[in-house]
Amino acid sequence: MQDLSVIVLAAGKGTRMKSRLPKVLQPLAGRPLLAHVLDAASALGGKGITVVYGHGGEQVRAHFPAEGLGWVEQAEQKGTGHAVQVALPQLPPDGRTLILYGDVPLIRPQTLQGLIGKVVDGRSLSLLTLEMADPTGYGRILRDAKGAVQRIVEQKDGTPAELAVREVNTGIFCVPNALLHAWLPKLRNDNKQGEYYLTDIIGLAAAEGVAIHTVPAPQAWEVEGVNDKLQLAALERQHQRNQAEALMRAGVTLLDPARFDLRGTLEHGQDVEIDVNVVIEGRVRFGDGVRIGPNVLLRNAVLGDGVVVKANTVIEDSEVGAGSDLGPFARLRPDSVLGENVHVGNFVELKKARLAKGAKVGHLAYLGDAVIGERVNVSAGVITCNYDGANKHVTTIQDDAFIGSDTQLVAPVTIERGAYVAAGSTITKTAPAGALTICRARDQKSIPGWKRPVKKK
Ligand code: UD1
Ligand code: CA
Repeated sequence: MQDLSVIVLAAGKGTRMKSRLPKVLQPLAGRPLLAHVLDAASALGGKGITVVYGHGGEQVRAHFPAEGLGWVEQAEQKGTGHAVQVALPQLPPDGRTLILYGDVPLIRPQTLQGLIGKVVDGRSLSLLTLEMADPTGYGRILRDAKGAVQRIVEQKDGTPAELAVREVNTGIFCVPNALLHAWLPKLRNDNKQGEYYLTDIIGLAAAEGVAIHTVPAPQAWEVEGVNDKLQLAALERQHQRNQAEALMRAGVTLLDPARFDLRGTLEHGQDVEIDVNVVIEGRVRFGDGVRIGPNVLLRNAVLGDGVVVKANTVIEDSEVGAGSDLGPFARLRPDSVLGENVHVGNFVELKKARLAKGAKVGHLAYLGDAVIGERVNVSAGVITCNYDGANKHVTTIQDDAFIGSDTQLVAPVTIERGAYVAAGSTITKTAPAGALTICRARDQKSIPGWKRPVKKK
């Protein structure tokens, strides 16, 4: 839509959020409300998007540095009409403008396309409306006897008869630029709130014989705004349900769609199964047949075909090769890269660790800054001492090595191919290929008749 401009109104203070964070930066599915609106606006392929900002403006701008957006400050909030007026200089003389709210995050591009499609010439405009059981607080759509829209009356200005109308203004409009240029300077603030109402352009349109098309919102949640944390939570749930439904339609099994949260994107193969209370953040990719157990957090992760992640596992910024299994209670910290068929068991922490094909770390281990070869077995209680208090050092374990339980590997250190390290060793030097290396306190002694300490009276 080459002739389309978008204005996003985002100058409201959001007092009821009771937060230092500006309202449009409050997160929904891990991203600012405004980001969701900008996504919908960008999907329309318009010419330019202008954000009208006010309270906390610099903070808001800083969040969207590289998006090719226009920013206009509305220093004082004098109403929606005034907000659009400050953006007027950004609008070309011709074409159409879509007006969106920065705090109405779930509006869908398809719905907006329908609305924009109604503005076929310079003598027609369109607005998105909603039929509500309780319209309190909203602007009401007033029609004449034939059903033609006459004007919009705000809650505070309406007579009881007008306020009985249940068809409301969602605030989302599409208007020819030429009409906005002509009408906005004419708005007056002689109303109960002393504000310049954008909604007054509807009365002007009716008076001038401009065609006013109303488009009913397909779903209420598309046009619901966020004013407080309750509404934020309600839209978060709605958004999560929408995403869960899309995933299920695409073939993903969710054991309980109400207990699944996606705060980012999930790409997936076939026959993926996800148990309850799984949280996915950032960019995550699953191959075919991936199975995720309950209470798992995945952030920026790539899991190959057939990977099984058991309960209470956390994976961040890591890659897991096909056929591997992790957890329960495993933790993969950033930059861990696992090859195929790797086993990482309970209470194992990995950080910047590369584990080649077939490596096994079954229980209670810490491997940091480690490069681990194929088929290596790391037993219980093994720890890489990767940090000397100032710098990090690398531990290298070559193919087929065996590291006995409770071994400390003091980095930098290398365990060569096929080496066998005895349990309880503290390894500070290279363990040579094929040999048994053992490093323990020399003697094991036993003291016969030794008495256990007794509790003092
Ligand atoms: C507005 C509409 C009302 C509609 C309702 C839907 C007007 C006069 N009224 O009412 O018909 O039913 O939205 O929610 O338009 N904003 C600015 N600058 C301002 C004022 C508002 O940027 O000076 C922004 C707000 O940040 C918000 C949006 O515009 O995103 C709507 O403002 P709000 O104060 O919520 O409008 P309402 O009075 O609820
Ligand atoms: Ca509002």
